[in-house]
Amino acid sequence: VLPDIQPNLLQISKNTKPSPPPPSKSLVFGHTFTDHMLTVPWSAISGWSMPQIEPYGPLRLEPSSTVLHYAQTIFEGMKAYRDDTGKVTLFRPDMNMKRMNSSATRVALPNFNGDALLELIKELIRIDKHWIPKEPGHSLYVRPTLIGTQKAVGIGPPNEALLFVICSPVGPYYPNGFKPIALYGTTEYVRAAPGGTGAYKLGANYAPGVLPQKFAAQKGYQQNLWLHGPEHYLTEVGTMNMFVVFRKGDGSLELVTPPLDGMILPGITRDSVLVLAQEHVSGKKKLAHLTDKLIISERPVTMNEVKSASLSGSLVELFGSGTAAVISPVDRIGYLGEDILIPTEEDGMGPISRPIWKELVGRQMGTIESDWSVPV
Ligand code: COI
Repeated sequence: VLPDIQPNLLQISKNTKPSPPPPSKSLVFGHTFTDHMLTVPWSAISGWSMPQIEPYGPLRLEPSSTVLHYAQTIFEGMKAYRDDTGKVTLFRPDMNMKRMNSSATRVALPNFNGDALLELIKELIRIDKHWIPKEPGHSLYVRPTLIGTQKAVGIGPPNEALLFVICSPVGPYYPNGFKPIALYGTTEYVRAAPGGTGAYKLGANYAPGVLPQKFAAQKGYQQNLWLHGPEHYLTEVGTMNMFVVFRKGDGSLELVTPPLDGMILPGITRDSVLVLAQEHVSGKKKLAHLTDKLIISERPVTMNEVKSASLSGSLVELFGSGTAAVISPVDRIGYLGEDILIPTEEDGMGPISRPIWKELVGRQMGTIESDWSVPV
């Protein structure tokens, strides 16, 4: 067997021209990067070799590198938080490591020991931890990426690859509080299909969404609501998973998200929302101000169901979930030439998303203790 990632071989070359982190107010999501990056090369002959933390800067790639031709690239998004005492934590990073290996497998990139990579990521974050903004809702967005770097334009599993990790200080997605977004129920384009790659975090899943997003914006909607099949099943929202809440005939609330059927990205925020809802139902930890009976369903949901619930008044709320925005309430869906209206309350949220968001952010920032918050 070839060597796996070996944190004990880490070489560190410090940036001799470190930048001062910019004022937190000026941050635009994913535009600013810290002083250092982590690189770990892989080859089919030697396996994973020397990990390096070095000054953030350009990579050297031959133009024949397979990533540039066939999109052999996968990525992750995770956040590190710093509290008032200076303590730094990551949120459920084991889930990112697992998903990254799953994505790698799908496009014939090499697997690796997730714990070993996580150890190196923690070292990188420790070196650049003064870049983590301390203000509420701010964090360090960590972007692990793995690319195929074989110098050949033939298609096949690459014999060389490069794993790298860069870090970007980010502010809250909604600096002025929650502003619900409008979605365009897209019937012209699909994000994923059965047997496709929707369940993996591949670079190739994201570029084809940019043009439809532009068209949605031209029509006055912020994001696409990705639909599937002639039934127009709701699948995802922009780059997020989605949840919808219905009021049932007996007065209970049903929290619904599409099942992980191969077309849905197994989101870490998605999973966290489901676990928090389950903990409420089981009584392990009740969500604040939620007295109605709650039912949780991972099941398909169609546009017809959402539309008739909106008309009959049984549609309670609809929201996206993701690492970048955490929870993103929706107040309107443009669908086949008309607008379906979705209730939102004064703060932009709803009866399920509000307590879930509070608990989630508490656990992320560490103000609510949980084993999801992992010390760096
Ligand atoms: C998300 O966190 O919702 C994402 O998918 C990240 C995005 C920048 C691609």
